[in-house]
Amino acid sequence: MTVVKSTLPDDARRVAGAALQDTLVDLLGLSLTGKQAHWNIVGPRFRSIHLQLDEVVDAARSFADTVAERAAALGVPPDGRPETIAAAFRLPGPKDGWIRDEEVVAVMVEALRTAIARLRERIEATDGPDPVTQDLLIGITSELEKQRWMFEAENWPRD
Ligand SMILES: [Fe+2]
Repeated sequence: MTVVKSTLPDDARRVAGAALQDTLVDLLGLSLTGKQAHWNIVGPRFRSIHLQLDEVVDAARSFADTVAERAAALGVPPDGRPETIAAAFRLPGPKDGWIRDEEVVAVMVEALRTAIARLRERIEATDGPDPVTQDLLIGITSELEKQRWMFEAENWPRD
């Protein structure tokens, strides 16, 4: 039963709905793995990376709300249940237990790189069907690319 009527034709709604749901899973998962690293990081760069991780978490949580509400506005009920995230989340994340600062940087670069690649596919997919959803995905990608740059800049080799 459709409770909320969509402003989009069925085909476009399906494409946009899938892009938004998949992005919701990535962002909610990223907010959890970011916090996991925030709590478990150890090493001389603890403080700066600990704080930087919260920037990623805050952005991921805020964008998760934006994409979920966009899905709802299109008549697609968003699914952010923990069992859904656990079953569908595919981004790299930190291992269990304490994790060295340099490992945190490496895993966050990889997680963000993967999330960005997936977002760019969805930007392509939504180009015709729904430019409004595409615009949201572009904004999210821009922020995640900024975050990825900041972690990558941490990787400069020492002498
Ligand atoms: Fe904290």
